[in-house]
Amino acid sequence: MYLRRMTTPNRDVAVFTTIADLHSYLADARRSGATVGCVPTMGYLHDGHASLIREAAAHHKVVVVSIFVNPTQFGPSEDFERYPRDFDRDLAIVGNAGGTAIFFPSVEEMYPSGARSTIHIDGVTEMLEGAQRPTHFDGVATVVSRLFEAMLPDEAYFGQKDYQQTLVVKRLVATSPLEAVNRATITVLPTQREVDGLARSSRNVYLSQEDRADAPVIFRALSRARMAYADGERSATVLEQLMLDELSTVQRLQVEYATAVDAVTLLPSSVFADDQHIVLLVAARLGSTRLIDNLVIDPTA
Ligand code: PAF
Repeated sequence: MYLRRMTTPNRDVAVFTTIADLHSYLADARRSGATVGCVPTMGYLHDGHASLIREAAAHHKVVVVSIFVNPTQFGPSEDFERYPRDFDRDLAIVGNAGGTAIFFPSVEEMYPSGARSTIHIDGVTEMLEGAQRPTHFDGVATVVSRLFEAMLPDEAYFGQKDYQQTLVVKRLVATSPLEAVNRATITVLPTQREVDGLARSSRNVYLSQEDRADAPVIFRALSRARMAYADGERSATVLEQLMLDELSTVQRLQVEYATAVDAVTLLPSSVFADDQHIVLLVAARLGSTRLIDNLVIDPTA
C-alpha cells in the first residue's frame, strides 16, 4: 500500500513514507523482473538531480528518489531549519525525469525513537569538508546506509559536486556488512552547471543578487588551475596559488580551502606524477551561503 500515487505531466509517481510500504512495492517490482536504481537527495531538486534520475531511468525499470533533509549531517549552527523544501515541485521534477517512486520518510521513520547508532568511515573524512564540518560525514554515512536498507538499490546515483561524499559512500559500500548496502553499485555523474559555470546546488537559492553575480569565480578559479595543469604545471602549491589568485578577485569571498590533492586518497602531494589522478577542490562563503565545487583531472582519460 502506498501513501499517494501522483500523476505528474509525464508519469505516475508513487510516494511512500514508510520502509514497510516501500519494501512491498520493491518486492512486487522485483517479482516482475525489474531492477532498482535509486537517487538519494535532500529535495529541492534541480537539473543536477534530474540528470541523475534520467540516467537511473535509462538503466532501471524502477527508480526511487529519496527526499529526506537529514538532520544528523548538519552541525548545530548550520542551515537544517532553513534548508529549502518544496515537495510538489520535487514531485513534478521526479515524474518528468522518469522516476517511478519517491521515498519521503519522517525523521522518526529514519531514526526510530531518536535511536542513534552512527557509522564512521575513516581515511577520507578527516580533511576538507570533514575538517570544516566535523560530524557531517558520520551523518551522511549513517543516513545513506539506512536509505539503502530502505530502497534496496541495485545501483545508486550521486553527483560529483559533493566529491568527498562520493568517496565516503564508495567506502561505506565497500566495507558494510549489510547486504542491502554492499550489493549496490555506485555511479557518480558529472556536476551540472549554470551557463556561467556555477555548480547547480539546492543551496544556490540562498544567494543574493550580488552573491549570484560573484559566485562563478569559484569555477573560474578551478578552471584556471585545470588549464595550468594542461599546460604542464604539476606543483600543488602553484595550482593552489592560481586558484587563490583568482578567488581573491572577489574580495567579499571567504575561502575555506582551495586545494589540489590526490583524487583517490585526498592526500596532498607536493608535485603530482604525470599519471596521477587529481582533484581540485574549493569551499568558500559568499554572504550567508557556503559553496563547494571541484574539478577532477584524470590524465589517463
Ligand atoms: O547529497 C545529498 O543530498 C545528501 O548528502 C544525501 C546523500 C542525500 C544524504 O543525506
